[in-house]
Amino acid sequence: MKIIKNPLQIQKISMELIRKNKSIGFVPTMGALHSGHVSLIKKSVSQNDITVVSVYVNPIQFGPNEDYKRYPRPVNDDIEICKKNGVDYLFLPSNETLYDKDFSTYVTVDKLSGIMCGVTRPVHFRGVATVVSKLFNMVMPDRAYFGLKDYQQYVIIKRMVKDLNFRTKVIGCPIIREKSGLAMSSRNTYLSPEAKEQAVNIHKILVNAKKSFNSGKNIDAVIKETAKLLSAIENSEIDYIEARDSNTLQPAVKTTKNVVIAAAVKISNIRLIDNILC
Ligand code: PAJ
Repeated sequence: MKIIKNPLQIQKISMELIRKNKSIGFVPTMGALHSGHVSLIKKSVSQNDITVVSVYVNPIQFGPNEDYKRYPRPVNDDIEICKKNGVDYLFLPSNETLYDKDFSTYVTVDKLSGIMCGVTRPVHFRGVATVVSKLFNMVMPDRAYFGLKDYQQYVIIKRMVKDLNFRTKVIGCPIIREKSGLAMSSRNTYLSPEAKEQAVNIHKILVNAKKSFNSGKNIDAVIKETAKLLSAIENSEIDYIEARDSNTLQPAVKTTKNVVIAAAVKISNIRLIDNILC
């Protein structure tokens, strides 16, 4: 596995691979890799000649009071995990090489960025879409792998790829969970053992919501009931709980065929997201 730090160098490598007709799979991450990330890497390795992983904690997708500074950065562990799982190139750019001091071009996916997580994280998706388009311009992947854990991010990136004519196919990968059902996340390391126990309830409650919805209960009633259960978790604070069309992220109505129920909940002040496709 080669470690690349320079954007021009990864771009040169990709251009050469494309010239040789090699397919490139790409897994963008912020590191602190866990089994969720590994599932994306494995899928890429199985579907492409070459797999590129990026590890970069992107400052512009964090709000001023968010966890940019304390976000976990176990770089050596990440390198080992990538090596072990068949990654060909690990791209580790720095802030200086990605963001010039006069940087002023942003990608905003209108309509999809100000809803759900975008309500309390107003700059988040602009930061995500901007860094992902920069990375796509450097890596020029045939396929890029995104977890459905960050469901809104997945839909936004798919929209962006269509709108901006990237050559890349976006592949959504299932949510990997701990045995308890808790969705794996680099941010789970912030949870105390007690908070983790409470956090497990989020998935259980979403599973019940899906059951009620699929048994014919009205979606508004399901959401109301689910909100009640989520707020009954000890030390919890709901950011949002919503049912949306899983393709467009428009609010789900009676006639919506494909529904995603998505939630962001703070447990002991740690913000967790999860969702379930119905
Ligand atoms: P990060 O949170 O590191 O996640 C990288 C990728 O791993 C995302 O596509 C995310 O959805 C996926 N992932 C995380 N936990 C998962 C789980 N439990 N099961 C399945 N997939 C999971 O998302 C980002 O980084 C950043 O916003 C990024 C796209 C890299 C842009 O900076």
